[in-house]
Amino acid sequence: MSVVGWTNIGELCTADPSVGDGQLGVIRNAAVVAVDGRIAWVGPAAEFPDVDVSHDMGGSAVLPGFVDAHTHPVFAGDRAAEFDARMSGTNYSAGGIRTTVAATRAASDAELAANAARLAAEALRQGTTTLEAKSGYGLTVHDERRSLIAAKTVTDETTFLGAHVVPAEYADHPDDYVDLVCGPMLDACAPHATWADVFIERGAFDIDQARRILEAAKAKGLGLRVHANQLTQGEGVRLAVELGAASVDHCTHLGDDDIEALAGSATVATLVPGAEFSTRSVYAPARRLWDAGVTVAIASDCNPGSSYTTSIPLMIALAVRDMGLTPSQAVWAATAGGAASLRRDDIGVLAPGRRADLIALDAPSHVHLAYRPGVPLVRSVWRSGQSAI
Ligand code: NIG
Ligand code: FE
Repeated sequence: MSVVGWTNIGELCTADPSVGDGQLGVIRNAAVVAVDGRIAWVGPAAEFPDVDVSHDMGGSAVLPGFVDAHTHPVFAGDRAAEFDARMSGTNYSAGGIRTTVAATRAASDAELAANAARLAAEALRQGTTTLEAKSGYGLTVHDERRSLIAAKTVTDETTFLGAHVVPAEYADHPDDYVDLVCGPMLDACAPHATWADVFIERGAFDIDQARRILEAAKAKGLGLRVHANQLTQGEGVRLAVELGAASVDHCTHLGDDDIEALAGSATVATLVPGAEFSTRSVYAPARRLWDAGVTVAIASDCNPGSSYTTSIPLMIALAVRDMGLTPSQAVWAATAGGAASLRRDDIGVLAPGRRADLIALDAPSHVHLAYRPGVPLVRSVWRSGQSAI
């Protein structure tokens, strides 16, 4: 049995409002004990028990590791030229995905796995201890399957996104591509995925195509996630809620009926401010969603087109500065909210029974994540009680 402890924590953010102050469940002058990688005790530093290995946090803030519930790390190449053009006035469109599809199809399995590993390591250095990873740049049976196998090398939370965009070779007969996704592609990919996702948008998949794909994936036993209402206010959010999706992501353009549907549901709104930042879009109405009682997560959406960043601290800063969340709400959304988006009850919160995934900041409080944007504040990271950074 291995007993590890962290003490002299200036501000412990448990992300469990029932155990400490406010939304983040803050306990000051705190300590944590983990046994065999799981949290066994949380309490005042004055009551810190004997442990085998003890870490002195020197008064800094300790938080749950971030749970990034939306990333696309399996791809090749980049789209810096597209970003450059966009910053000179070109609009973002779903079609840019095809550029990355061509590069991804040309890459070897080892190159795809190496890119995913590079981004997962980059995310870990910034405090992300769990990430979800999608396919979606292969768009053939063979390339989607090997994309998921590459994703599996960095996480168990893998998502089949064969319905990312209609590939060029099906441009004139998109319904045949939908047949492929619902049939042979799903059969080949389902064994390597926990989730299925569809990009519902003008230029990607319409609501009827999305319904077919999501129903087929659900029948195969996959959980559902949806990209919806990113560029336009369509029916994607309501379809996600109707089908019982765990998460509907982006949610940039919402009507009152969308917010109402989400508020009465178990579907998490996973907001991705990096995409809005990097496409010069308006931001999702996080404040309205939160006030309506919707469960909100924030994620990086790391991908080479609309959000080439793994930084959850940046997402927290944007959620506070531009989306109206308080610092404690934003940190909750990046930890407990991310876990809810993945329907996980073993991560995202520092409470007995949960995995000892925690991060220490070079700062006395979580507020500094938004207050000191762009500063690398994550000093140390532990996963299941083991030092990772
Ligand atoms: O989540 N919206 C669809 N997919 C990605 C963008 C992918 C790309 O542009 O390569 C997103 O923003
Ligand atoms: Fe995405």
